[in-house]
Amino acid sequence: MPPLLPIVLLLLPSLLAATGTADDICIVGSGISGASTAFFLTNYTTSLPQLRVFERRGKVGGRLATVTVGGDDFEAGGAIIHPRNLHVRRFAALLGLAPRDDGDDDWLGIWDGGRFVFSTLRPPPPGSSWLRRRLHGLANSLLLLRRYGLSLLRMDSFVQEMLQKFLLYYNGFESRPVFDSVEEMLKWSGLYGLTQRTLEQELIDAGLNSQTISELVTVITRINYGQSVSISGLAGAVSLAGSESGLWAIKGGNWQLAAGLLKTANATLHLQEGIDSISDAGDYYVLKSNEGHEYNCKVTVVATPLDEVNIKFAPPVSIPPRKMQHTHATFVKGLLNPKFFGLSSVSDIPELIATMELPDIPFSSISVLKKHGEHDMIYKVFSRAKLDDTLLDQIFSIREETIRIDWPAYPHYHAPEDFAPIILDGKHLYYVNTFESAASAMETGAVAAENVARLIISRLPLGLRAGLSSPESELHIKSFAGEQDSGRVDL
Ligand SMILES: Cc1cc2nc3c(=O)[nH]c(=O)nc-3n(C[C@H](O)[C@H](O)[C@H](O)COP(=O)(O)OP(=O)(O)OC[C@H]3O[C@@H](n4cnc5c(N)ncnc54)[C@H](O)[C@@H]3O)c2cc1C
Ligand SMILES: *[C@@H]1O[C@H](CO)[C@@H](O)[C@H](O)[C@H]1NC(C)=O
Ligand SMILES: *[C@@H]1O[C@H](CO)[C@@H](O)[C@H](O)[C@H]1NC(C)=O
Repeated sequence: MPPLLPIVLLLLPSLLAATGTADDICIVGSGISGASTAFFLTNYTTSLPQLRVFERRGKVGGRLATVTVGGDDFEAGGAIIHPRNLHVRRFAALLGLAPRDDGDDDWLGIWDGGRFVFSTLRPPPPGSSWLRRRLHGLANSLLLLRRYGLSLLRMDSFVQEMLQKFLLYYNGFESRPVFDSVEEMLKWSGLYGLTQRTLEQELIDAGLNSQTISELVTVITRINYGQSVSISGLAGAVSLAGSESGLWAIKGGNWQLAAGLLKTANATLHLQEGIDSISDAGDYYVLKSNEGHEYNCKVTVVATPLDEVNIKFAPPVSIPPRKMQHTHATFVKGLLNPKFFGLSSVSDIPELIATMELPDIPFSSISVLKKHGEHDMIYKVFSRAKLDDTLLDQIFSIREETIRIDWPAYPHYHAPEDFAPIILDGKHLYYVNTFESAASAMETGAVAAENVARLIISRLPLGLRAGLSSPESELHIKSFAGEQDSGRVDL
């Protein structure tokens, strides 16, 4: 009976779904964490089941996104990449993504609400000689040294020490354990102590003077995390690293990292399909989407902060409460009003206005993104609250275009931090973004994802690729024990 065959074939997929052949690995969230998890799972294994990635929005990348202002694209969320962000560097190389050519030295001014308490020198005009730019850099270093003295060096050592420990997460497979909790992961590298005290406490102990902390350090934490020096020492060190030299970004937008990784991993991408609930069905999970579909998944990876999303878990999972810090990114095409800053000419306003932690300063920072002309620029303003039109009309004398984005940007850090589990239910429900309580960045997302991928591989027979030794091997457990005994000090 040939006519029947097509009907049977049509019925087949739904029959399979109903019987629950649940081998799939499902990832909720297509940001850098979800995309990296997909990538590492594929990169490390030989026989991976179907990978599904769910993204409630119409585009991949999450907090990596561009915004178009005045015809040009600018990073609206995660913007800068540190030269020692090794995973992201490797991703860019693998995906053939080029760095954006920037180059403008920043002209920094620290604003206290009434005046600029410190400014670096106005940069030489574009096209100036190498020597002139070099001298300008030197003069700025001297200015900084005069104001902040030895504290500058102490700040640098504090950051370098953190980076040195963080580099341990790139050790080879054999010399690096798989972690099933963030505490264990941080203790192994010696970074845990930094999450238990505030940045301010850490820096006072490191010998920084109070002026450096209330000015230079504060303006950096306000720019990078929208918060004060009462964030944890680790988030603080990561944010200070984000003020070093050599920072870069992906030409055309950092979101392409996520897009490229998902493609490389051959993941099945479900765009505009949000997951509403995740239910334990014994041997697998049932994910219900807002499209009314159900997916049976052997493994489920949550790659989004759970603090502001409304996913129902059955049975419920328990995680410590965490608040997300909202950063309002306001993009303006127009011109700043020099009078607001007590200046007579726009050309006297620094190109990066950073602010101290004082009441009544309504924004965290204002930076020039592009100069179309002397009276036509594109600015990015960061603030903790929405900037209304009345206020914007005081800060700006011309405003042709305004775009506002309200990000649940990163956790609101404090000390001591506590961490949600990586394995939420003791089975196969994993949570990448618990690591964000240590520090939020593209690279920390990738590092956390790599660990989750290895954790999954260590707990399921997925076939490790040749050349990678099994993470559960005795060799590896021994080396972990060795590491712990080697007299590492917790800060
Ligand atoms: C303004 C700002 C500036 C920043 N600056 C930097 C910087 O300079 N350098 C840096 O390294 N980092 C920076 N960060 C931090 C960095 O952007 C983030 O740490 C990183 O992008 C987080 O990636 P993620 O994949 O963990 O989460 P996300 O990017 O948030 O991805 C989670 C994804 O899950 C989706 N999702 C949520 N719920 C569901 C659901 N129920 N079903 C399906 N999908 C769902 C979301 O839509 C989202 O796409 C910045 C962040 C902001 C907001
Ligand atoms: C794994 O990733 C590396 C880059 O980190 C890449 O060079 C290699 O080709 C990848 N291997 C597979 C099998 O995907
Ligand atoms: C992805 O799919 C392509 C084409 O189907 C295939 O050639 C490639 O080997 C796959 N890559 C992985 C990592 O499975």
